[in-house]
Amino acid sequence: MVKQQMKSNHLKTLLSGMRPTGRLHLGHYFGVLSSWIKLQNKCKCYFMASDWHALTSDYVDTSMINNNTLEMLADWITIGIDYKQSIIFQQSKVPQHSELFLILSMLTPLSWLKRCPTYKRQIKEIKNKDLNNYGFLGYPVLMAADILLYKAEIVPIGDDQLSHLEFTRDIARRFNNFYGNILIEPKEKLNKISRIPGLDGRKMSKSYYNTILLGETNDILKKKIENLFTDPLKIRRHDRGHPDDCVVFTFHKIINTEYSDIRKKCIIGSIWCMLCKKYLMEILSEFMGPLEKKRKNIISDKTFLEKIIKMGSQKAEAIAQNTIDEIRKAIKF
Ligand code: TRP
Ligand code: SF4
Repeated sequence: MVKQQMKSNHLKTLLSGMRPTGRLHLGHYFGVLSSWIKLQNKCKCYFMASDWHALTSDYVDTSMINNNTLEMLADWITIGIDYKQSIIFQQSKVPQHSELFLILSMLTPLSWLKRCPTYKRQIKEIKNKDLNNYGFLGYPVLMAADILLYKAEIVPIGDDQLSHLEFTRDIARRFNNFYGNILIEPKEKLNKISRIPGLDGRKMSKSYYNTILLGETNDILKKKIENLFTDPLKIRRHDRGHPDDCVVFTFHKIINTEYSDIRKKCIIGSIWCMLCKKYLMEILSEFMGPLEKKRKNIISDKTFLEKIIKMGSQKAEAIAQNTIDEIRKAIKF
């Protein structure tokens, strides 16, 4: 009876993180943040700014990392991450991450890192930075350390991070095989909408300059929507359109509950692209309007933001140290 009760009261532990690369956009929101918000009442949550991960690729110019961390934190709070309920922290402020990273790197077969699809893709795609460094190859090891330190059971991620989560489970299993059952194999939580289009129809990403920022001002939002591509075959007002070839429609699909009505009207030519954009603008600005003001207030008080992250990091450190104690004992150090 007591046992059963304990089981039902057990809040699962959730950890997720983001690299501080600047202000967040709708891609982050629909990709993972919306699921952080949904789950923060249901789980014991850790939300981490992974600045060491930023360093793996931005080691030449580190000048933006700290400020980006605060900008990102402001975004989190603006969209409803509750720093009183969840632990919000900065990776580099919790030294246990680097300790576990070091220990795990001893057990990591090089072949596991070299075959990682994210690694291979980024080495191929990213040409403006030299990513032939040891730290970047070790990116998944650091991410595994982040997750395993808190014995997180649930990890919300975008689908581009899936291979890192598989790596995390593999390394946890390997550790447990060698030293006893200490680490927990986490499960990913993927959002239903995994690919948010940017203004040009490619994946929304800062490096493509195609983003809509969270808390974008109404003027900029309007310009961005006005410039969106539509179906090139729908030229005149009553031309029949192909919504699935239209960026405007992909946005409707994500944020407009009545998107199927838009689809129908577009196909039979009873809606005009200008009007269709106007509807989209209305919905987006209803969502964004309050964010802009709220964000401005939050970012204006950097001392407050620094305090939140410092307090969160202290709380995280206490938990992380428990795991490190267990691990040191297990490896007889
Ligand atoms: N690598 C993740 C990303 O780029 C960020 C991250 C770092 C993370 N550590 C994590 C995500 C731990 C989940 C859990 O999106
Ligand atoms: Fe796209 Fe809307 Fe124009 Fe159809 S009516 S092509 S969905 S903008």
